[in-house]
Amino acid sequence: MFFTNLFQSNLKSQFIIKKIEYYPATESTMSDLWELINEDNSHVLVITDNQKNGKGRLNNKWHSKPGCSLTCSFSLNKVFLNEQFNLHAILIPVAIIRAIKKLLNLEIKVKWPNDLFYENKKVGGILIESKNKQQVLNIGIGLNVNEDNNDFPNEIKNKTTSLKIIKGHPIQREPLLAFIINEIEQKIKSLDSKKLINIWQENCIHINENICFKYQNKMISGIFKKINLKGQAVIEYENKHITYDGPIDFI
Ligand code: BTN
Repeated sequence: MFFTNLFQSNLKSQFIIKKIEYYPATESTMSDLWELINEDNSHVLVITDNQKNGKGRLNNKWHSKPGCSLTCSFSLNKVFLNEQFNLHAILIPVAIIRAIKKLLNLEIKVKWPNDLFYENKKVGGILIESKNKQQVLNIGIGLNVNEDNNDFPNEIKNKTTSLKIIKGHPIQREPLLAFIINEIEQKIKSLDSKKLINIWQENCIHINENICFKYQNKMISGIFKKINLKGQAVIEYENKHITYDGPIDFI
């Protein structure tokens, strides 16, 4: 069970979260959030202990184990200008990496744009959807916290891990989520795009590595160089630098 009181006692948020909707079970916190904000419930955090039909990026399903995973959604008002819109997708993983480092002294890494990794295994993911001509962003965070290896479906077992597996002991989800929200709020207050990009790059698992990406309707491989000031990936391909904001795969 997720204890909202324990979460709130660790939360320093002044503007992101003003209300918490805890559901023991639901289909997807992302769908719930869309419904709630349509009823003008901004600044609400939706959290569940049992997400039965989680949505991942690129129409994938997101698996979570009841009572073990962290599955939540909340909305944010746009903080970067239109041409830097992509930086929202950089800020969230950077804040999560920082929060996990502060709370658990653990170095989580990032794969473009915002997959959370530990030693080549995925530990969490972020889904960002937007409305009102991108004035509001709905953020969904899925983190594997207290799962054991056998809890993951066979097809992802070898490429997935949890914070409990990494640390060797169970982790309380409530302070973890509070640290994450506090860190997101702090990053928004101090809004420093260069610093965010630097932290993202320092923690990226594929800088200067060969990756695959879809370009002009075909899959090609190139070298992932960096993130530019607009928050786009810069990829070296046939001696040219291409800017890109779609998904990538490892070779
Ligand atoms: C990814 O594919 O890496 C992103 C996964 C995002 C999953 C989270 S879990 C909470 C929220 N509700 C959903 O249905 N999806 C997001």
